[in-house]
Amino acid sequence: IAITFDDGPHRETTEPLLDGLLERDVRATFFLIGRQIAGNEDLVERMEEEGHQVGSHTWNHVRLTDLSQDTLRREVEQTEEALETLLGGESYWLRPPYGTVDDADQELIDVPMIKWSIDPRDWESRNTAQIVAAVLEAAKPNQIILLHDIYETSVQAALEIVDSLQEEGYRFLTVEELLEVNGIEPEAGILYCSGDP
Ligand code: NI
Repeated sequence: IAITFDDGPHRETTEPLLDGLLERDVRATFFLIGRQIAGNEDLVERMEEEGHQVGSHTWNHVRLTDLSQDTLRREVEQTEEALETLLGGESYWLRPPYGTVDDADQELIDVPMIKWSIDPRDWESRNTAQIVAAVLEAAKPNQIILLHDIYETSVQAALEIVDSLQEEGYRFLTVEELLEVNGIEPEAGILYCSGDP
């Protein structure tokens, strides 16, 4: 199973989350808002050093379907450049804000895109017990869990979810690893919602 975090980095919450994941030997995937990287470079470097997958969530957290082609390109490229400067040249997969893309966007995006298959709407309830219960109820092998590492309630929930699912025998993989173990070869411009082949 894969656990993913959007809308960071955010020092007060991302840092304790990284500590908790490290203690549990869990790799996650972080989709970062580009404009929040400055000032949090050490956290982003830590993500990579500790084996997490780092991806992009656009520069300003914008809905891709509302943008001109130029703005969309800038939103994606600016974030890629910030990540390349910090971590070196790799392919930074994209999570479209709100999970929305249209066909025209898909032609412009030159990396795989990742949605999710389990969404406990953690940003709405901000209730740790509710978030944990919703994810545990929906958990199945090969799924992609969506959480936001900008809320304390979500960080707490994430660590409880990890503890419970590890006890059930789940292993946590990055999204890239989850697709790979399922024999999926990720293609640019395609939106993947789970690791189901
Ligand atoms: Ni978001």
